[in-house]
Amino acid sequence: MTETIVVAVDGPAGSGKSSVSKAAARRLGWAYLDTGAAYRALSWYVVERQVDPTDAAAVIDALPDFDYRIGTDPATSHVYVGDTDVTEAIRTPEVTAVVSAIARVPEVRAFLTGLFRGIIRKTDRDGIVVEGRDITTVVCPDAPVRILLTADEAVRMARRSAELAGHSAAHVGEALRRRDEADARVVDFMNAADGVTTVDSTDLDFDQTVDAVIQVVQKAAHV
Ligand code: CDP
Ligand code: CDP
Repeated sequence: MTETIVVAVDGPAGSGKSSVSKAAARRLGWAYLDTGAAYRALSWYVVERQVDPTDAAAVIDALPDFDYRIGTDPATSHVYVGDTDVTEAIRTPEVTAVVSAIARVPEVRAFLTGLFRGIIRKTDRDGIVVEGRDITTVVCPDAPVRILLTADEAVRMARRSAELAGHSAAHVGEALRRRDEADARVVDFMNAADGVTTVDSTDLDFDQTVDAVIQVVQKAAHV
């Protein structure tokens, strides 16, 4: 059996990681894994169980009962905690506000990293595009294709504000900046690690960014 080709994609919020990785996976006919969805689902679960998200010991206590499932088909990626479909619920500002506190707990990162590696191992397609913050450096440092997707801060904020119509652009921008700052204290996703190819999407539209990612994949993995 030939080994699944892993494409690791990291980058800050609003760089286009999720949407571009998903589109690239669809074009390649490969699987897709959004690792941020797991950090968000655990945050949703912690809030639901009325656990204080800043109490690391209590968050760690909740891990064994965290029953998480995500599909890897880029056409339909639903997220479940137990029997509850949390696909929409994990995107609310309430969940987004607590996710950095959950993500900085080392035991949480180790637990979810193990979960991601298990999902990647079970992939039955030729390849899988995995995106997050520490995929190129921690989860899959040996992946044959490793990409840092970036874009200038103002452009990233404009993209996020456009998605969240009804929320003030200044508020969205400030929340995003604070989250990136908190996350970057835990893992470095602003600078490309050795061997990681940077794709800067500042001046690229969506399709051009997908093309750029596919070109890196074709060159590095010879597909
Ligand atoms: O899509 P967006 O950039 O807003 O964030 P996300 O990918 O859904 O990730 C949500 C949060 O999960 C991030 O703000 C990080 O705190 C955390 N995360 C992480 O620590 N490591 C990852 N590999 C993925 C996400
Ligand atoms: O996952 P991440 O937070 O990095 O970003 P995303 O949620 O995939 O992308 C944020 C928004 O930017 C989406 O609405 C994308 O369609 C858009 N985008 C864009 O307009 N131009 C690009 N070159 C890349 C993404």
